[in-house]
Amino acid sequence: MNEPVLSLRNVSKAFTLHAQEQRVEGCRDVTFDLAPGEFVGITGRSGSGKSTVLKLIYRTYLPQAGEMRYASEAFGSIDLARADERTVLALRRQEIGYVSQFLRVVPRTTAREVVESAMRETGTDPSAARAEAERLLEHFELPKALWESFPQTFSGGEKLRVNVARAMIKRPRILLLDEPTASLDAHSKSKVRALLASLKTEGTTMLGIFHDLAFMEGVCDRELHMEAGILS
Ligand SMILES: Nc1ncnc2c1ncn2[C@@H]1O[C@H](COP(=O)(O)OP(=O)(O)OP(=O)(O)O)[C@@H](O)[C@H]1O
Ligand SMILES: [Mg+2]
Repeated sequence: MNEPVLSLRNVSKAFTLHAQEQRVEGCRDVTFDLAPGEFVGITGRSGSGKSTVLKLIYRTYLPQAGEMRYASEAFGSIDLARADERTVLALRRQEIGYVSQFLRVVPRTTAREVVESAMRETGTDPSAARAEAERLLEHFELPKALWESFPQTFSGGEKLRVNVARAMIKRPRILLLDEPTASLDAHSKSKVRALLASLKTEGTTMLGIFHDLAFMEGVCDRELHMEAGILS
């Protein structure tokens, strides 16, 4: 048996809403393993804690309890629940990619620069990064006229395609996907699917939330279901 790339054990996260002095449960006692090269889909109703799990792994959120053991290329076996900020930033640069439901837009940065800069962060030389960025923008059929424009004004689907290209260009070891196809039309969806399939062939381990998991059939190996913060 291959050692897992990522092992979550009893990971819990609750949020305190100060205004109402209320606690909202994000997820509780989440436990699962991701084997190298595996593609696992998370399903569940809105508010069941799917995004929370992804954000804990990406360390947007810090868990209150539990362990997230990750087999890092650069750092060896580390617990993401306890890794310091510098390590987390290095992992985000090199090893762990994340596609959010929403695109963060960097002001005054063109679509091509957004994608290209992600690759340069990994130390790739500028001309290779540029060529790869253009290859991906072409793959996702972002109209050439938009390459040198600012994504602020792009449509939802155009923004998302830039976002997906940005995360994929680094060929991260683990790719976290939060509904990457949510606002896409069928054609763009199949483009994302094709690229995810090719990343899988290259050995990328993926954990993704998909509204329509049936669409990922053949790419996705296994499904985890969440209900009210609990994974089954
Ligand atoms: N930063 C936060 N502050 C307070 N509550 C939060 C925060 N993030 C998530 N929650 C709460 O945690 C619960 C789980 O949210 P989460 O975003 O993980 O759900 P989800 O399964 O991804 O839902 P959706 O399918 O709608 O995206 C919800 O009740 C949500 O309100
Ligand atoms: Mg969500």
